[in-house]
Amino acid sequence: MQNLAWIDGTIVELSSAKISLEDRAYLLGDGVYEVVRYYDRCLFYLDAHLDRLQNSARAIRLLLPYKREVIAAAASDLIEKSGFANGYLYLQATRGSAKRDHLFPEDTESSMTMYVREMLPLTPMEQVKPIHLVTLPDERWLNCHIKTVNLLPNLLARQKAFESGAAEAVLYRPGGIVTEGTRSNIFAVIDGVVRTHPTTNLILPGISRRIVLDIMAEKTIAFREEAFTLEELQKATEVWVTSTNMEVNPVRSIDSLVLPVPLPGPVCLILMQEFRSRIAASCNR
Ligand code: PDD
Repeated sequence: MQNLAWIDGTIVELSSAKISLEDRAYLLGDGVYEVVRYYDRCLFYLDAHLDRLQNSARAIRLLLPYKREVIAAAASDLIEKSGFANGYLYLQATRGSAKRDHLFPEDTESSMTMYVREMLPLTPMEQVKPIHLVTLPDERWLNCHIKTVNLLPNLLARQKAFESGAAEAVLYRPGGIVTEGTRSNIFAVIDGVVRTHPTTNLILPGISRRIVLDIMAEKTIAFREEAFTLEELQKATEVWVTSTNMEVNPVRSIDSLVLPVPLPGPVCLILMQEFRSRIAASCNR
């Protein structure tokens, strides 16, 4: 079993994979990406991830070099060859390799790389481990709906959160409007209604976020895709974050605010269980 990479059709061991020094994603951050979990060799919500990759590519005027069937087949093949049953697939498309220039190169084909790494499914204990968050200003640009490799503001906030003992940051814009986390979407139960920021240019339209909204609609849990402020967050009875890596993760505390026990709260618990059921169902397990 080994972690493997795919570089425009060629498979190599991940540790020996090489790209050009002039690759535009490496030099200029000129690329888009996706992270897709696979459970039991089955890519979870791959179609939704490929749709978002297509949208991100379109938003930066990058033509994906392969049709989605080719990408999907290559991804499955890579998982099969790597031998790990559980892991994640990282997919990146860049504007290719060309002489460094702020203008888009004219005669350069875009390029795609992907790799798989083993990642074990969360254990039941890890799943219900509530995390601590800190609030930090959202210093990112105004195109956060595009999943680009330009993640420096996210990294700086995540590092700051980590150094203050938090697993994630709650990012807010002027006026205290909560947008999302550095690598997750955020939900809060305020006055009995689940709230999360709507899908505008200020957040990434998370796939896990979408799944959670679908579950709530199905279970007739009251929710609104409406931004909330830091002030409103003080009244929250439950908070959780969602992402491909963290799935649905309950929150214990935010800054000095400690959420009421028991944790996870009743709504979060339903979502965690239903999310797991979707994983099982989507892979026909
Ligand atoms: N990040 N918001 C941001 C800023 C993110 O980077 C992510 C995911 C999410 C959640 O999206 P999804 O549910 O589709 O994973 C929200 C990935 C996992 C990453 O960069 O590693």
